[in-house]
This record gives sequence, structure tokens and C-alpha cells, in this order.
Amino acid sequence: MGAIQLRTSIPGPASKELWRRRKEAVPAGIYHAAPVFIARSEGALVEDVDGNRMIDFAGGIGCLNVGHRAPRVLAAVRAQLDRYLHACFSVTPYELYVSLAEKMNARAPGAFPKKTMFVNSGAEAVENAVKIARCYTGRPAIVCFEDAFHGRTLLTMSMTSKTHPYKAGFGPFAGEIYRLPYAYCFRCAYSRTFPDCAVHCGRELRTLFQRGVAAETVAAVVVEPVLGEGGFVPAPREFFEVLQQICREHGILLIADEVQTGFGRTGTLFACDRLGIVPDILVTAKSLGGGLPLAGVTGRAEVMDAPGVGGIGGTFGGSPLSLAAAHAVLEIVDDEKLAARADELGERFRSRAIYWQSRWPEIGDVRGLGAMQAIELVRDPGSREPAKALAEEVARHCHERGLLVLTAGTYGNVIRLLVPLNILRPQFEEGLDVLEAALAAAFEQQHESARTI
Ligand SMILES: Cc1ncc(COP(=O)(O)O)c(C=O)c1O
Repeated sequence: MGAIQLRTSIPGPASKELWRRRKEAVPAGIYHAAPVFIARSEGALVEDVDGNRMIDFAGGIGCLNVGHRAPRVLAAVRAQLDRYLHACFSVTPYELYVSLAEKMNARAPGAFPKKTMFVNSGAEAVENAVKIARCYTGRPAIVCFEDAFHGRTLLTMSMTSKTHPYKAGFGPFAGEIYRLPYAYCFRCAYSRTFPDCAVHCGRELRTLFQRGVAAETVAAVVVEPVLGEGGFVPAPREFFEVLQQICREHGILLIADEVQTGFGRTGTLFACDRLGIVPDILVTAKSLGGGLPLAGVTGRAEVMDAPGVGGIGGTFGGSPLSLAAAHAVLEIVDDEKLAARADELGERFRSRAIYWQSRWPEIGDVRGLGAMQAIELVRDPGSREPAKALAEEVARHCHERGLLVLTAGTYGNVIRLLVPLNILRPQFEEGLDVLEAALAAAFEQQHESARTI
């Protein structure tokens, strides 16, 4: 018997009733990927309120590299519950914070002294990284990338690229943000081909300094080592070499946003490790807390020390429960060799996806780094016109068959894999079988309607 067990159609009656209440009580603008309400979870499995057991390839949007309710995370949180819940690090500091900062400083790329602060969310961490970079350099401008996602607060929404639904209607935006195309080779903004292009897109940073913003006014370049929400786009290593080189020439800080890529997801603890990136500031969140809200800003000690006392911090940043969980997360990632496991999962996904691509022309691109893998769907392989509706259909078929998946991409046409990295092998294979069946169903449906037109 497989891991997936469906007692009702998806969504079942209890989920439907909660949907009705949710519509009344909660703003429409909050998105939902799956049509079910969760009742409990364990490892890579989720049970909904109708008793349906599903396999989770979404991991709460990449927050569960160590799986749902990892036993060591639960034990650490339970032990912490009996000590203290909240004190505020700015009132009575606690060792848990300092020791996690020490671990992050030791593990973040770069052989130089580092310091770490903790906040509650990825967006808050990106905001703090930018604040600190501005304070250290005394410069206002920030360079970020097309198809980037950095969050939903005013500054991070302004840095985010996709207009609908993230920006439209929410202006005016924060100023001094400049943008360049990312190394999105499948949709190269300059119609070039890697490696012949010699990462022209990265070199365009120099052009931006002539035509958009003076280099000496730029505090930081903020970049995701692999685009997350923007479609799981792994940029070539050379892209980062060029960015780093140009940043160093101009005294600009390089900030790596590893909110989605961190903690083993891409085959190394941080994607920076694999790509040879040594950022001045590393931003982490999501899987750091093992399911609890926690984010980190780790950077060169002299940079991190720039803001005056009281200039950074917050009431809940570095909550003791989240910190206890994060200590356990780091141990699990090491002990269970989750980074190596990410590579295994990624290779398995890739080999299946390449077979799917040979079968269905709608799979325009198969790409990723480690377990951060995705397929990009197109209406036609020649034009590469994005197939958003098709991706939504695939996701719907997955959900109906008991597999939680997420779409992504500026065009919403990417199916991405954010599975817990310690998923059991048979569960992973079962999930891939369901994804294959969902692709077949969605593509058949599309071929059928093309025939009847
Ligand atoms: C790369 C990246 N940065 C920042 C964020 C924002 O994180 P949060 O939703 O925790 O604010 C996300 C969230 O998906 C992300 O993927």
C-alpha cells in the first residue's frame, strides 16, 4: 500500500466547509496552493481534515528541509517550553541566540570574522541586510534582479520583480532600487546562449553603472543564488564570479538571499558554497527554523557592526522556541547528510523529468540545483510561450491524486520541487509517479481540446 490514502475526493467535505468559513473571515488576497486544510503532519506526509493522507512536495514553501515535525526539533522545542518562552533578546538576552549566531558565523561562506542577527521572516531579514549595507557603506542604492523575489514588505516588495500579484496596486514603492536581468538562460533577456555569451547579463552591471545608477552610490547587489519564486532558475557559476568581481571593484556589498536555497536544499549547506559565492551578507530563513518562524542575517563583522545600538533588532526576533528548533535543524542537516540527499533526490527527479520531456513537448525546460528542481511548461517548444494554465492544471491533478505541489515563475508556468530532504525513497517515487500521472492527464486534456477545436 502506498503512502497516499484518499478517503474522499479532494477537497473533502470538511475542507470545503473550512473554505466557506475562510472566505468569510480571511482576506481574499492571501493565496492558497492546495485545496485542503491540514489536520496533522509527519515527515513528508500531510493528513487533511477529511483524513486524506498526502505526500508533500511543497514543504510549507521550502521550510521543511528536515521534514514535518522532525523528532529532534520537537524534542528541542518541548525542552525549551519548560525553560522560557519569550524574554526579548533586547531585554534579557539568552545563550541560545548567541550559540546559534556562533554556528551561523562558522558555517556561512567566507574565512573572515562574522556576526549574525535573527529576525522573524525572510522579508525582515532582507530588509535588515539592506539597512545594514546602507549604514556601512553610507550609500543609498540597491541593485537587484528581474524575476527576483525578496518578500512582501514595502522594501522587499519593491525589490521583488513580478508585478502581479506582488506589486500591482501597492505603490508607491521604495526608491533607489535598480534592476538587471538575471541569468535566466532559458529566457535570456539578450537572446544569447551560455557559455558563448560569457555571462553578458552579469557584465551588464557595468552598463547599469553608466546608464542607470552611479556605482559609488550603490550599497549592495542583492541576488538569489537560484531564483526561487521566480521559477527555480540556477544561474551559472560564472554569473556570480562576474558580479562579485564588479562589486569588489566598486566597494559594493554582495548580499546573497538564501531564504529558499539554504540548509542543504541545493546540495551544499548554502548554495553559495556550491557556486563559489562569498557574500558580504548572507540572508537565511525558511528551513532554518524547522517549521518555526526564524530568519538570519549573517555578515562580515565590521559590516554587521555598522548600525548604532538600538538601530536593529525587534521584539520577537530570535524567539527562543525557533532558536531551539534551529539548533536541532543544523544537527539534522549534518547527521542525516541532507545536502548529499538533496543531490540524490535532484538527480532522480531530473532523470524522470528528462524522460517526461522526451515524451511531452510542453516540458520546455528541466533545471535546478540539488533538490531545488523544476520543470517549465510551454505552449510550444519553438516559441517557448509560457503555459500558466497548464501548470495550474498539473498542480490540480496532483492535488486531486494526493500530492502537494507548488507552481512558481514570473509566468506561473513552473512546477517546482520543495520536498522534505529526508523523505523516504518509496514515498518520493510514489510522489514522482503521481506527478507523472498528473502531467499525462493535463497534457492529454490539452491535446484533446486542441483536437476538438
Ligand atoms: C528568496 C526569498 N527571499 C525572501 C523571501 C521572503 O520570505 P518570507 O516569506 O519569510 O518573508 C522568500 C519567500 O519565499 C524567498 O523565497
